[in-house]
Formats: sequence, C-alpha cells, structure tokens
Amino acid sequence: MNSSATKRIAVVPGDGIGVEVTAEAVKALRAALAAGHHAAEFTEFDWGAERYLRDGTTLPAGALDMLRGDFDAILFGAVGDPRAPSNQHALEILFGLRFGLDLYVNVRPCILFDRRFTPLRDRSEADVNFTVLRENTEGLYANIGGQFKRGTADEVALQEEVNTRKGVERILRYAFEDARSRPRKRLCMSDKSNALTHGHDLWQRVFLELRQSYSDVDSRHLYIDTLVMEMVRDPSQFDVLVTNNLFGDIVSDLGAQLAGGLGLSPSANINPGCVSLFEPVHGSAPNIAGKNLANPFGAILTAAMLCDYLGWRPEGEALRSAVRTALREGKCTADLNGTLGTREAGDYIANCITKSGLRF
Ligand code: NAI
Ligand code: MG
Repeated sequence: MNSSATKRIAVVPGDGIGVEVTAEAVKALRAALAAGHHAAEFTEFDWGAERYLRDGTTLPAGALDMLRGDFDAILFGAVGDPRAPSNQHALEILFGLRFGLDLYVNVRPCILFDRRFTPLRDRSEADVNFTVLRENTEGLYANIGGQFKRGTADEVALQEEVNTRKGVERILRYAFEDARSRPRKRLCMSDKSNALTHGHDLWQRVFLELRQSYSDVDSRHLYIDTLVMEMVRDPSQFDVLVTNNLFGDIVSDLGAQLAGGLGLSPSANINPGCVSLFEPVHGSAPNIAGKNLANPFGAILTAAMLCDYLGWRPEGEALRSAVRTALREGKCTADLNGTLGTREAGDYIANCITKSGLRF
C-alpha cells in the first residue's frame, strides 16, 4: 500500500455496464471527498474485453506488484463481453486479482434500504440487515481436478475442494472479529459437515476452537440447507454469516435478492491491511450496456465500502444516506421503477452530497 496521506485508487471499469456504473461511482466518491477532509488520486486501467481483443492482454505482467506497491484500493466494474465468448479475459483479470492479491474475504452486505424492494412479504428494513462473509481463495474454486476419458461414454470429471487450516482459520477469525464489532454480535457459520466429513470437519473443529476466545460473540452453526431455508423464513435472525467459497457464492446471491436485487448489491474482496478490491455484485449486463439504463447504486454502495475500508467513515455514510434518500424519493433507474438514467441517478447522488455535505 502507498504510505502518503493521499490514498491511491486504481479504477478498473472493465466491460459493458461496468464502465457506466463505475463512472457514476467515481463521480459520487469525488463529491463525498470534496465535502470531507480526505484526498484520493484515481488512476484508470483499461483491463477488459476491448484491450484483450486488441492485443491479447488480460491482466498485464507486473500488475499485481504495481497494485500491491502503489495502491490502497481497487474500484472494479465488471468483466464479460459477448465478443470474447471464452470468458478467458474475465477469468484471468478477476480471478487473477482475487487470488493474486490473496483477497481472502469476500464481504457482501445484505441491507434492505427500502422495504418496497424486498420480495418477502411483510418484511421491513430491520428484518434484512446482515453480512455474508465468503471464503474467497480456496474451496471448490481452487480449480484442482481433471478430466479422464473426456468426450467418451466412460468419462470422469473430478473437482476437488481445497480446505486448508490457514485458509479456514483466517476467514473464521475475520468473521468472529467482524461479529464482535457489531451491536448484535451474532455469528452463524454454515457448512455441510454432516455429509462432507473431511473438508467440513476441519471447518467445524476450527470454529469450535476459535469460539473459546470469542465468548462475547453469540455464535452458532447451521447446515447450509437449513441456512437457506431460515434466510427466507426469518432473515432478521442473522447478523454475520460465514461460509466457504461455493456456498458463499450462492448464499450471497440469495441475500442480495432479499435486500433488493443486483442493482443495489455491493461487495468487497479484502486482504486486511493490504490493497483490496471493491466491486458491485452484478456483471457486465450486455443486454442493457451502452443504453444509460444500468442502476449505478450497487457501484456507489461499493464505493461506500471502499471508504469504510480506507477509514473514511463519514464519506461512506454520506454515500449510503444519499442512496437511501434517492430510493425514498423514487430518484432511481427503471429496474427499481424509477425514470432516471444511469448518469442522472449518479448526478442525483453527487448533487445530494454536494448540497448537504457529509451530514444529512
Ligand atoms: P449480470 O449481472 O450482468 O446481469 C443479470 C441481469 O440483471 C441482466 O438482465 C441485467 O440486465 C440485469 N442487471 C445486472 N446489473 C444491473 C444493473 N446495475 N442495473 C440494472 N440491471 C442490471 O449477469 P449475467 O447476465 O449472468 O452475465 C453477463 C456478463 O457478466 C457475463 O459475461 C458474465 O460472465 C459477466 N459477469 C461478471 C461478473 C464480474 O465481473 N464480477 C459477475 C457476474 C457476471
Ligand atoms: Mg455469484
């Protein structure tokens, strides 16, 4: 990370609506910084389909060292383009960054900003307010495996789940610390240790060990199938959820939907104390790209998470308050029944902050 007071932010808009929503997130973030006392310098990188199709570059050589040495945070849009159907560039860029920078915590807050946007009947803002922490560097996504007799009637495909003590311990420790820092101090760890008796037994043992040092945290365990039922039945019982890479991928999408859907969902990929990456949960949405239709609020709430990570609490809160105000007043894009375009929704947030300062 860079050591000066001015933080350095790498901006990787990527493809499709990634480009459009990232522009609005930077606009909103600049407005928040102008209203506060912190300074940042933004450097944009053109990693994505356009560059890949032009010269074959995905994540350029030296990119990881440069990010680690010179930057504090990465604001990322989305990658994926129908002109590059192999998806090679997207995988090499996004997984290259997640694995290369050892961003082992995937944080997905599922916070309902306005009750009109949850698909659950009779639920309000207080009922959907939890965070999913997903292990982000191992599990089934380590891509260990192989194929044997491929393309024949006898073919075999193996995909191994990697669970290391170091990997399990660091994500669970992060989860206990996160739960401890919150008013409700509740943690739920989820696995499938009743069936996956090797890998998930390790999760069980590490969880029980760590629990000894966190007696102030109200911690419990649910099997993953029970967890998804409980999330729908009564989401208000959850505060911090922690699970492995695959289950976290699925559970966080369920959580995102409970909190209003893709257009409003932010995420962070964190390696504590090191350069970390912030991205909206949605993809590059080629079906609406280039039409000024994309909802930029997921990206703007992502910028708020970046602020929190850099210790800029008032700026992060201002961004969230502005989004809350915009939703209340219907100043949003068509996916949330508004009439604004991507740029106009971004302008609304920036103006809101410029007018009101950091206190709403
Ligand atoms: P997607 O998230 O791009 O789109 C799913 C649906 O939600 C589409 O109908 C889209 O129009 C809508 N949508 C998404 N974000 C929206 C927003 N901000 N405002 C309004 N509507 C929005 O997922 P999909 O279609 O499965 O994937 C499209 C491309 O994105 C693929 O190339 C995929 O690989 C890539 N992708 C990239 C991700 C990343 O960079 N982290 C994550 C997910 C997908
Ligand atoms: Mg997903």
